[in-house]
This record gives sequence, C-alpha cells and structure tokens, in this order.
Amino acid sequence: MPVRPEKRDTLNASEVKGLRRRCEELSASIESMRAYYEDLLGSLQDGIIIVEPGGQIRSINPAAEELTGLSAQMFQGRPFEQMFPNDRALKELVRKTMETGRTHTDFDVRLTRADGSHVVISAISGLISDGTGRARGIVLAIRDQTGIRELEERVQRSDRLAALGTVAAGVAHEIRNPLAGLRGAAQLLEGEPGFPPLLREYTSVIVKEVDRLSAIVERLLSFATPRGPVLRACNLHEILDSLLFLERVPLHTARVAVQRQYDPQLPEILADPAEVRQLFLNLIRNGVEAMPNGGDLIIRTRYERSAKCCGGRSVAVVEVIDQGSGFDPEIERRLFTPFFTTKEGGTGLGLAICLRIVEDHGGAMEATSTPGRGSNFRVWLPLAKQSEAVSPHHDPHWAVQGPLP
Ligand SMILES: Nc1ncnc2c1ncn2[C@@H]1O[C@H](COP(=O)(O)OP(=O)(O)O)[C@@H](O)[C@H]1O
Ligand SMILES: [Mg+2]
Repeated sequence: MPVRPEKRDTLNASEVKGLRRRCEELSASIESMRAYYEDLLGSLQDGIIIVEPGGQIRSINPAAEELTGLSAQMFQGRPFEQMFPNDRALKELVRKTMETGRTHTDFDVRLTRADGSHVVISAISGLISDGTGRARGIVLAIRDQTGIRELEERVQRSDRLAALGTVAAGVAHEIRNPLAGLRGAAQLLEGEPGFPPLLREYTSVIVKEVDRLSAIVERLLSFATPRGPVLRACNLHEILDSLLFLERVPLHTARVAVQRQYDPQLPEILADPAEVRQLFLNLIRNGVEAMPNGGDLIIRTRYERSAKCCGGRSVAVVEVIDQGSGFDPEIERRLFTPFFTTKEGGTGLGLAICLRIVEDHGGAMEATSTPGRGSNFRVWLPLAKQSEAVSPHHDPHWAVQGPLP
C-alpha cells in the first residue's frame, strides 16, 4: 500500500534538494531586497533615521551619519533620546509623532554634531505603519540647511548693499554741496578785515569737522559704488610686507607682534594690489582691536590646488590669526553684514568691504573663532596662472620669517 507523503517523517533526497533550492532562492531574494533597500537609503541626499516604536534607533543612512558625525554602529539599538541629548527640538518632533501618529515638520532645528559643532537642519518625522494601521516606528528625515541659510544671508547682504548704494548716492548729492558751502563760508569769515583773531579757533573747528564729514561721505560713496578691481599678476607677500611696514608704528603701540608664516613657493595671485592691501589692512586692524592688551598676530599663507570654494581654481590661502576676544556663533552670522559692529565708534563696514573685495576677485573668505581665545580670518584668492606647476600634494614647510626686520 502506497505511503501518503504527509504521513511520512522523512523526505526523500529529491524533495530535500527541491526544498534547499527554494530556501536558497528565498534567501537570495531577501538579500537582493536588503541590498536594494540599503542602496536606496544610501543614495538619498537627506539623512534618514528610523526609530522603533520603543524609541530605539533601528537604522540610519550614510547622509545621516555624515550630518551627525556618528557612525551607524554607534546608533544601532540605542535609545533616540540618548543619542541626541542636547537637541530638544529634534526629540520633541519625534515625541509628537509618536503621540499623535501625525507627520511633524520643523525647518529650523539646531543639531549638535559629534565634534560639538552645530548645524541648522530641517527635520520631518512621520509614522511608519503596516497594512492594518499599526505603528511600526518613526522615520525621521533631516536635511542640512547651511547652504540655504548662507544664500539667504547673501541675498540680505546684497539687498542692504543695493539700498546702501542708493542712500549713499542721495546723501552724497544732498550733503557734498552744503558741506563745501560751509567750508567756504568759514574761510570767507576768517578773511573778513574786522574778523577777531580770537574767533579763528572756532572757524578752524568748522573747517576741520567739515573735512572729516566729507571724508566719511567719500568713503561711503566709494564703498557703495565700487570702481571694480583692475587685475594683474602680483606678489602677495610683497603686498603684505609693504602693508606691515606702513602699519609698524600702530602695531608697535598696540604691543602686537606680527608673525609671518609665508609659504615661499606661493605663486603670484591675480589681483588689484590696492584692494588687496585694503582687505588685509581691515583684517589686521580688526585683529589688533580684538587684542586690547596686545599679543601675537599670525599671518600665514599657503597654496591650494583646485579650491572647491573658488570653483575648483588654484588659489593662495591667507590666514590672519589673532589671540583676541573671538566671537560667538550669533556674531559670526552677522560679521560681514554692512553696519554690523560691536565696537563703540565702529562703522561695521570693514568686513563688508573685505567680502566685497574678495568676491570681486573671484575668491572667498570665512571666519572661525574660539570665544575668549582668538579668531581666524581665512581668505582664498585665485592665482594668476591656473596651470602653475606646484605639486598637487604640496605641503608647505612654512618659512617662519617672524616679524619684519
Ligand atoms: N578679529 C576679530 N576678533 C573678534 N571679533 C571681530 C574680529 N573682526 C571683526 N570682529 C567683529 O565683527 C564686527 C564687524 O567688524 P568690521 O566690519 O570690521 O566693523 P568694525 O571694526 O567697525 O566694528 C566687529 O565689531 C567685531 O564684533
Ligand atoms: Mg573693522
């Protein structure tokens, strides 16, 4: 009598083979689905963090690793709350989605990275539910907003500059002529035959103050309606040295010792020497003003091939480093905005002028600081010859030249 297969305890060899093949097919298809899922998450520009209903992190993609500065292994299975102890807004977002089951969005979240630095991100948290509507967890999508913020600030800055141009032209027109009239009248008074010599002191104050006002108007006008740089190949170190020579007395009086750390292989830059001098004069003066009790001011140069911030061009990089007060992140955002100043009697135009000069040269600049320890202003200026034959891995051994002889 034939044995029915379901009654058997054992399988014959061909059935085992068939089952094994089926198993292999299934595990291959699971593996390919897993790889597909990983590729999908890996190719997203947005950071993705998946949180289990119990609050543990299930997975994060490479974009989220990069944004947070932490590796996926460090996240795996750890409570979300524990991984972001200082990011209240982010935790709040996830908590709200857990509680309400709805999607929540915040475009202005401050994320603390592993190295302690901060980055502004946008975050969207949504519920992952299965076919029956049961919650399977939360998906959190995060995106770096730094670029957008910078763009916003740039637009704001150029709006201000455009407004400033209009105001300056109006001011110049309305003020220049009356100023000239005032000056002329004061001088005519002095020339009157019966003019008492004792009053000459007053008329000279009028003339002096009128001259000061005229100079301010001229400076404002030249800033608001720049003539544009006249570019030529020039030696950056010569420009810096001539500037330091001119500034030697004020530097000495302020008890500031300049350390020159020049890269002797630095090729020529394509620049307007007068504007570059103005640029570094502003940076040096700010450095000096940040060190009321004196200190060291380092001026360091080096060469950089294909600088990302300058459209891949070869550039000279100059750093002006002081040991002054530094600035906090709130000030950092506003440094280059015209009329932003924290100094009594400051104009707030110095760094705005620097930025305009650098951008007119096709360069870039940034400022970093450790509050209380000092600041570093970094400037990138394109080289005259883009094919300059310096090794791509050129590692400068700074010729430490110290102060000017
Ligand atoms: N080297 C520096 N260290 C600290 N803060 C600085 C430095 N340079 C600039 N700042 C800050 O940026 C502001 C704007 O600088 P700037 O545009 O040169 O205008 P001003 O020097 O007239 O204030 C300063 O008031 C100061 O708060
Ligand atoms: Mg200044």
